[in-house]
Amino acid sequence: MLHVAVPNPIHKVKHLKLLFFSHGGLVPPLHQRSPSSLTHQKLAMAKQFIPLSSSILVAVISLFLVSTFVPGVGSIGVNYGTVANNLPPPPQVAHFLLESTVINRVKLYDANPDILKAFAHTGIAVTVTVPNDQIPRLTKLNFARQWVEDNVQPYTPATNIVRILVGNEVITTADKMLIGNLVPAMQTLHTALVAASLDRRIQVSTPHSLGVLSNSSPPSSGKFRLGYDIHVLKPLLSFLRATKSPFMINPYPFFGCSPDTLDYALFRPNAGVLDENTGLLYTNMLDAQLDAVFSAMKVLGFDDLEIVIAETGWPSMGDSTQVGVDANVASEYNGNLKRHVSSGAGTPLMPNRTFETYIFALFNEDLKPGPISERNFGLFQPDMTPVYDIGILRPTVTSTTHLLNFNVTYQYTHIDMLQYQYCYTQFSFP
Ligand SMILES: *[C@@H]1O[C@H](CO)[C@@H](O)[C@H](O)[C@H]1NC(C)=O
Ligand SMILES: *[C@@H]1O[C@H](CO)[C@@H](O)[C@H](O)[C@H]1NC(C)=O
Repeated sequence: MLHVAVPNPIHKVKHLKLLFFSHGGLVPPLHQRSPSSLTHQKLAMAKQFIPLSSSILVAVISLFLVSTFVPGVGSIGVNYGTVANNLPPPPQVAHFLLESTVINRVKLYDANPDILKAFAHTGIAVTVTVPNDQIPRLTKLNFARQWVEDNVQPYTPATNIVRILVGNEVITTADKMLIGNLVPAMQTLHTALVAASLDRRIQVSTPHSLGVLSNSSPPSSGKFRLGYDIHVLKPLLSFLRATKSPFMINPYPFFGCSPDTLDYALFRPNAGVLDENTGLLYTNMLDAQLDAVFSAMKVLGFDDLEIVIAETGWPSMGDSTQVGVDANVASEYNGNLKRHVSSGAGTPLMPNRTFETYIFALFNEDLKPGPISERNFGLFQPDMTPVYDIGILRPTVTSTTHLLNFNVTYQYTHIDMLQYQYCYTQFSFP
């Protein structure tokens, strides 16, 4: 897929807003995302304490906030693609992601200066991309230094740039000029980062489509394409190991599934698929795809590297020939994906791992060519309304209590999850 990402969850909930209104009973949050029922139970319990005193109420509620929301705040990256003519200005997007979602990593398909500026002081981890057509020139150290000087140094460290990707799905372009220059370009870029003393802060990698594999089924027989394996992937993997950077892939069960395998692709209960070589049972297609990549890496002796899911997703709309394409199914895939990759379950060949993951995509992108589905991979519409909910909106609790005729409005802001500090900016007793 042509498109835009981030690493892991250090839950920086910067601004958590809570409003308690008074009309008897807890009003379920309006349009969100995943305030868990547990949260409601705890708030309902908190209600019993209200008559004691308002300060105890505040204390109790804040206690529940901390205890309930800290573990519940997940994190996920998104691809911020911009092939559209109707997207909001980058500062609005950055503000929205920070304030209203738990997304704490974004991946860009370029190094758009307006976007880099917009993410300054957000703490959100930003990955930028050197477009494919600049790869041959990037093998020249002068060009690489200039690229870092122009595209990275003006923005870091205010903008938390954590990784630079050299191209996107370069090997499956079949363009020999690009493929031959890929690893030298990555090495040269890394050298330029060393010269700028940015190599400890910023990694270099490149994402691959599953087309990089010649064999993926069963997962244990995964292999890289012959020729590329020795001449490109081996030096690439060596570079990644030497620089402690991850191998990045773009797995899409959506593109690998049929009506028969829809349950398997969506992480629904299903009979599973047995890998007869290993005796391992696969209960979802993503695990099978990840393990095929892992097996291919292992053949070359690189099973110790981290694997990052640079892109995956599911469209919420398609044409009539496509099965399983609607907002409910997209929500099911991305929601189950988010749970699975962060659960620590790992895969049959990589047990107990979590995977840094970037959903494709942040927005529906109206100028993307191809079938309808291509323009409908977004989690959000261009006006930032959610297409569906996978629990990435920040908890905004609106509830009401009718006690002692209070009308209590609390607005909590700046809840620092690490330091357990908060303040409330409104507290009114009309
Ligand atoms: C994975 O975790 C399980 C449960 O904690 C443990 O029994 C198992 O040994 C772990 N496996 C690996 C490979 O670490
Ligand atoms: C409670 O106060 C808030 C904020 O002052 C106000 O918007 C809301 O309408 C009030 N609710 C009731 C039931 O009085």
